[in-house]
Amino acid sequence: QAGLLYFGAATDTPGQRERAPYPQSYAQYDAILKSPDEFGQTTPTNGMKWLFTEPQPGLFNFTEGDYVADLAGTTRKLLRCHALVWHNQLAPWVDAANTTWTKATLSAAITRHIRAVAGYYRGRCYAWDVVNEALDEDGTYRKSLFYNVLGEEYIKLAFRVAAEVDPGAALYYNDYGIERPASVKTAGAKRLVKMLKDAGIRVDGIGMQAHLHADVHPSEADLVATGEAYSELVREVAYTELDVRIEMPVNETNLAWQTDAYQAVVGACIKVKKCVGITLWDFYDPFSWVPDVFAGQGAASLWFADFTKHPAYDGMVQTF
Ligand code: XIL
Repeated sequence: QAGLLYFGAATDTPGQRERAPYPQSYAQYDAILKSPDEFGQTTPTNGMKWLFTEPQPGLFNFTEGDYVADLAGTTRKLLRCHALVWHNQLAPWVDAANTTWTKATLSAAITRHIRAVAGYYRGRCYAWDVVNEALDEDGTYRKSLFYNVLGEEYIKLAFRVAAEVDPGAALYYNDYGIERPASVKTAGAKRLVKMLKDAGIRVDGIGMQAHLHADVHPSEADLVATGEAYSELVREVAYTELDVRIEMPVNETNLAWQTDAYQAVVGACIKVKKCVGITLWDFYDPFSWVPDVFAGQGAASLWFADFTKHPAYDGMVQTF
């Protein structure tokens, strides 16, 4: 793990994971997940999202989040906490009230949510993804419920409240498609972070989700350039949700491209001084979100269904 603070894997709660066809025993999965030889960090892929943590207004439930937070504790892994304000996987009451929110009521709801959730996990989160995916593909703000009611004020509010509640956590802006140096969305991420800093608000990190595609992945040089550019703005950067999806079926060629992509990320994180670590968005193909969301694509993780490893595993080990 040359120079990096951690290499980790995100995981779901067992009840959530079972959405996927699951051919093997949990024991094998758990052994890899918990092994200190494989991963020194974890993130809940779902359990800390609004949907689970505040299913009813002002009623909080930490069962799902605790599963992963407790696992991090017992296996001595760093915990990245994910995510406080995101337009997806909101509790239905937040979405349903769409038309009735005012600036005052929505600000109050965001504040209450962050105080409760970040307050509950205070001291246990190495980092928090405070705001997730606030940008559109063209680099302008995503026209989410939060944005439509509050404009960019919701981003400021979220970071302010998170800073108050958990002074020890590294506060991140996290997004996908912000891994390439010349993209308009990367420019948007820089603008967003500058906006916070200009307002005197603490933002410590930029999280690049890095949901990559084997055929068209960014080069190591591109990733380094982006990491360096972000390093001028924040104390740390990280690859927070790494996976590399393949156009099915798997063959030697696309597995080789996939290996390149994983190696590029490791190489870049080693070269960029402020890159603190890499998180896989789960490590086991049957639990990957990719086939649910990207038709015809899959095999994005490092372990196949039969628990043999993708070639990218050894490729990464060699790069470290
Ligand atoms: C995904 C989860 O992995 C899935 O299980 C869930 O159904 C949808 O969300 N960007 C993010 C993550 O920030 O929270 C998303 O996780 C993947 C994309």
